Amino acid sequence: MKSRLLILGPPAGGKGTHAERLAAELGVPHIATGDMLRKEVSEGSDLGVQAKAAMDGGELVSDELVVAMLVERLEREDASEGWIIDGFPRDLEQAQVLNAELGGRGVDLVIALEVERADIIERIVGRRVCPRGHVYHLTHNPPETPGVCDIDGEALVQRDDDTEEVIVHRIEVYHDESGALLDFYDSKGVLRKVDASGPPDDTYARIHAMVNSS
Ligand code: AP5
Repeated sequence: MKSRLLILGPPAGGKGTHAERLAAELGVPHIATGDMLRKEVSEGSDLGVQAKAAMDGGELVSDELVVAMLVERLEREDASEGWIIDGFPRDLEQAQVLNAELGGRGVDLVIALEVERADIIERIVGRRVCPRGHVYHLTHNPPETPGVCDIDGEALVQRDDDTEEVIVHRIEVYHDESGALLDFYDSKGVLRKVDASGPPDDTYARIHAMVNSS
């Protein structure tokens, strides 16, 4: 079974939704750089203060901040047997840094989610999150009690960067950077593209089959 996985894809492509579920099934940590950065912002740490402006504008946070944060996370004990990373790498430079950091084995599998632009917008508009990062959708994945997280009972809100203006820019950034990134992993023979349209369970079934067959 593959245990060092990356999930790539556009904003609201479903990276977090599927990475969390797959990580629980494989018994490895789900490491999401976006969630880690949002936690730093909510705690008001130095890193969070430095990252906030870029995140609110839909820009990438500087490599200097993100790479150090990710490397420190990968060195923790629970990541020694494997992991699923969502949200990193974002561009070719980050992919090369990760590759160098991991040494010979590199990553086992890179799952690239593919979603049409109209679906991305619809997912963003309907997304609700709790302060601890649990993700819902008003239509596709509603909580049992409207407006309340099933897991910790916290109130659900919209993310600060889920405005229409910012999402348009986040999509542009993804399209600018993803070509070289996907080519990099394709050349290593570890890239698998997944149709991530439609209901979450259907996408997850495709991902699951791919992980089990690779
Ligand atoms: P990040 O949090 O990574 O944002 P993102 O890449 O824009 O991705 P999202 O979190 O919006 O979406 P997702 O793909 O996880 O989708 P989700 O599962 O929620 O990063 C935020 C910011 O942090 C960046 O803009 C940047 O500033 C900074 N940052 C992070 N990493 C960085 C890095 N490495 N370098 C530099 N800066 C970095 O699903 C979306 C919704 O769709 C949910 O509501 C879900 O329920 C619903 N849904 C509907 N149908 C489906 C389906 N079939 N599958 C899955 N979900 C579905």
